[in-house]
Amino acid sequence: MKIPQLQIGSLTAKIPIVQGGMGVRVSLASLASAVANEGGIGTISSIGLGDLDAPQRDYERESREALVREIQKARELTTGCLAVNFMGVLSNVDEMIRTAVQEGIKMIVFGAGLPTKLPALVDDPSVSLVPIISSARVAGLILRLWDKHFGRTADGLILEGPLAGGHLGFSAEQLEHLDDFALEKLLPEVLEIIKPYEDKYGMKIPVIAAGGVYTGKDIARMLTLGASGVQLGTRFVCTEECDVSDEFKQAYLDAREEDIVIIKSPVGLPGRAIKNRFLEDLEAKGKLKVNCPYRCLTACKLEDARFCIARALINSHHGDVDHGLIFSGQNAYRVNQIVTVKALIAELLAELQAA
Ligand SMILES: Cc1cc2nc3c(=O)[nH]c(=O)nc-3n(C[C@H](O)[C@H](O)[C@H](O)COP(=O)(O)O)c2cc1C
Repeated sequence: MKIPQLQIGSLTAKIPIVQGGMGVRVSLASLASAVANEGGIGTISSIGLGDLDAPQRDYERESREALVREIQKARELTTGCLAVNFMGVLSNVDEMIRTAVQEGIKMIVFGAGLPTKLPALVDDPSVSLVPIISSARVAGLILRLWDKHFGRTADGLILEGPLAGGHLGFSAEQLEHLDDFALEKLLPEVLEIIKPYEDKYGMKIPVIAAGGVYTGKDIARMLTLGASGVQLGTRFVCTEECDVSDEFKQAYLDAREEDIVIIKSPVGLPGRAIKNRFLEDLEAKGKLKVNCPYRCLTACKLEDARFCIARALINSHHGDVDHGLIFSGQNAYRVNQIVTVKALIAELLAELQAA
């Protein structure tokens, strides 16, 4: 199989592999630039970059400064394709998107919320807008809204299925019927619903399949089904370049299949994580202490929050995994070694070619 390039708006990646944005601080400049250097698209996560104990104004300034630092650092390390990932539930999401665009980022990925205002926020046509979706229904809704209100369409879509890591766009009930929402089922539906917009705007809307894509054979299957590329998260966590602590990576290496669980996040969405002492504590106590000087997430209902997700993810980032949440994809238990991004991508491409 000839390995296709991945074209998203003005960006051309040499290989059809996107490294998914991973908050909190899991995918920063080091990982994103390493992936970009191998020809893929490296995504910096904009989530959880400030000091949670800072008052509101300082938190916002610090987040912006940290994002600028990561983008500039990545740019020093690569001339390849970079994206930044945002979540609609971030309190300062608009400001952070503007910051990324000012820093020259050409691909904005938007998940966890409907990107109803995104085209108004980013009116530079050289910047690609790529919503994350988990169904054809949501894809259709976004494209209809953008067509009606902004006379434009998406430059690409990331279709994230139910096996992905982090927050998921499926209900807890849907997650009990994984086969009903398999990428193999969702992808043809999405390709169908975007057709009228591709025709109207005379362009291809590349769909990138994510969630449970683990081997080059999986990549080949997605491309055969009509995806223009794939997005991987879990596999990139266990790379030398990944920006998270060794303890976080070790939790992946130690995880067994039965340790991968679905949790209820204070954001109001289910999330997938590795069962550890933190989750056992939470289960035993029902609720952990929440101290929230800055409401980093609009969707976080403080009264009901059983824990502070930002703090729990930051703890894991730093290596205090006993007091931290470890997000992972369903396939985390299959990872058994830490490799370089170069080696991982070479392996994936060899498998893809063989398939
Ligand atoms: C540790 C971790 C953190 C993640 N954080 C985010 C995030 O902040 N925003 C987001 O859109 N997706 C997030 N994701 C999802 C990934 O970007 C990616 O789409 C997904 O993990 C792909 O599935 P895979 O892990 O099976 O490869 C996260 C995934 C992991 C494993």
